[in-house]
Amino acid sequence: MAETSPTPARFRPRNLLGVLAFLGRYRARVALCLALLLVNITIEMALPQLLGNAITGLRDHVERATPFEPMDFVWLFLALVTLRALVGFILGPIRNRTVQRTLGDIRSAVYNALQRLAFTYHDKSNTGELISRATTDVSRLQDFLFACLLLTVDIAVALVVTVWLIFHISPALGWVAIGTMLPTVALIGFYASKLQPQWRAVHDLHGAMTTVIQENIAGVRVVKAFAKENAEVAKFRERKETYLGTLLKTVNYWAARVPFAQFIYGLSTPLALWIGGRAVIQGELPIGDLAKVVLYLMAIGYRVGMVGQFTNIVQNASASAERVLEIIHEPSGLASGKEPMPPGRGHVTFENVGFTYSTERDGGRTSGVVGQAPPPVKVRQAPSPAETAGEGARSTKTGEGAGSTAKAALADLTFEAKPGQTIAIVGPTGSGKTTLVNLIPRFYDATQGRVLLDGVNVRELDLRALRQSVGVIFQETFLFSASAAENIAYGRPTATREEIIRCAQAAQAHGFITELEDGYDTIIGERGVSLSGGQRQRIAIARAFLMDPRILILDDATASVDAGTERQIQEAMRKLCEGRTAFIIAQRFSTVQHADMILVLKEGRIVERGTHAELIQRSGFYREVFEKQIQH
Ligand SMILES: Nc1ncnc2c1ncn2[C@@H]1O[C@H](COP(=O)(O)OP(=O)(O)O)[C@@H](O)[C@H]1O
Ligand SMILES: [Mg+2]
Repeated sequence: MAETSPTPARFRPRNLLGVLAFLGRYRARVALCLALLLVNITIEMALPQLLGNAITGLRDHVERATPFEPMDFVWLFLALVTLRALVGFILGPIRNRTVQRTLGDIRSAVYNALQRLAFTYHDKSNTGELISRATTDVSRLQDFLFACLLLTVDIAVALVVTVWLIFHISPALGWVAIGTMLPTVALIGFYASKLQPQWRAVHDLHGAMTTVIQENIAGVRVVKAFAKENAEVAKFRERKETYLGTLLKTVNYWAARVPFAQFIYGLSTPLALWIGGRAVIQGELPIGDLAKVVLYLMAIGYRVGMVGQFTNIVQNASASAERVLEIIHEPSGLASGKEPMPPGRGHVTFENVGFTYSTERDGGRTSGVVGQAPPPVKVRQAPSPAETAGEGARSTKTGEGAGSTAKAALADLTFEAKPGQTIAIVGPTGSGKTTLVNLIPRFYDATQGRVLLDGVNVRELDLRALRQSVGVIFQETFLFSASAAENIAYGRPTATREEIIRCAQAAQAHGFITELEDGYDTIIGERGVSLSGGQRQRIAIARAFLMDPRILILDDATASVDAGTERQIQEAMRKLCEGRTAFIIAQRFSTVQHADMILVLKEGRIVERGTHAELIQRSGFYREVFEKQIQH
């Protein structure tokens, strides 16, 4: 998506076909809808015939006393109107269900794609924008799907058939219909073509506005801590004004077509009365037929109005479809390997591993700036740690990343974690600890070297299987708005209550969970009971127990709890690490002292390694930091 140019998209029918493809699953229902619709159109075309014939019959009856029975027409009319209502009753629910099911499918596709996409994708797209696409844009497609199941067919069939019927009655009047209808449609088409880029702009501005809302909700503490409420409100107001301004301009422009179109098409009735009236006077046309033509002209006018509505919907949808399909069709970036997990107990090997974040962002569209990239310079090797700002390294990794400036986050890492070992990773903030462990479950792919798990390159492993065999506990544990039991069983929803309780006990979470109002059924997370940092981490530990992974990653898992709480959950963590290969990132030396090996990272490189005792003797960076912490 980063490649998408910031210029507004042109109308691309391909996008809409992509959306229509989702209807393909419901072919039978769609066919039924269309069949019922045709019945209704037929009835509608028949009504003016009936009325016209009644008028002619009446006139003949008055002038020449031919027999005429009005009740015949009344009953027939009633029958048709009733049938139309019945068809409508059946058609409505079928159509609604088809549309809603299809929308549901599209939402699932977006959701699945968002899950599948690599961290790299989420790094470069902002959350508000993604939320806007997954919700607002998908909803906009609703109108389009309705239109396709109704308006398109209705407009196309009705226009063709009506014009043909008028021609059948009187070729001269047929030309009146065509002569006024075509310019009107052309006018609407002209307006519509002018409008397409503007709709896309409206949608993008909506995304930008949503981003501000989303950031403020997510970062409300930061905003308040820095007393930036006013600045944020001003930012939101500015985005809102731009959005509203563009929206109004677009809508007003669009609305201006109506009086124009009404005027041009409005000429059809006087023309028909003039030409048709003379034919009636000269006895060439029964008066009832003139009535039919006038009624048909009104029907055409109604449809021509719908053409405008339809183009509006189609364009709106085309912009939304593009934004939605972009996510669905975004290559995941990480192709899953085919190998099943090899037997083994968690032997992890890093061989000359390097990693560079791709720094390009998806900001082009909102900021409207395309980088005037300096000619890229090929980098043979990562810059030395001593090198200052990232200016020295310009990544040309993918060729498309012109303008991205990146410094290697990791360089030339080689180490081995034997099954069951605990590896501690220490180093200053930003030294690459998190990046290192993220390479194991393939949250990112190493850009150099290889990461092996039990002898197999992680890229060759089935991604799902790999992720399931690596348990990760982050600094902050995210709890879903669901019961405590569901949160623990997140990785394996089929777990029994007994299993969940056993894992909670092992994680020392059983005690506080049973004290909650509804025990394991208490809703926690955003919309439920809020838990303390230590309690959240114990839920995370229970989650990990339940998954029984062979590799365990604790990334600063105790950083946000106080030392007392840390001691409490240390026992649970120690139990969890038993018999698994564990990677522990921690600030406090109490946590890392007992590791089988400690890797000391500095600016993406391993600068020291060994056990605590070895490192203390060596009087290097590790000892320096250790002594400082002891003094405190
Ligand atoms: N998603 C990201 N995109 C770009 N750069 C990142 C990203 N995450 C981390 N970095 C950079 O990579 C380096 C290592 O970061 P990280 O692994 O998070 O360090 P640590 O966990 O040791 O604090 C830092 O310079 C950081 O700014
Ligand atoms: Mg980190």
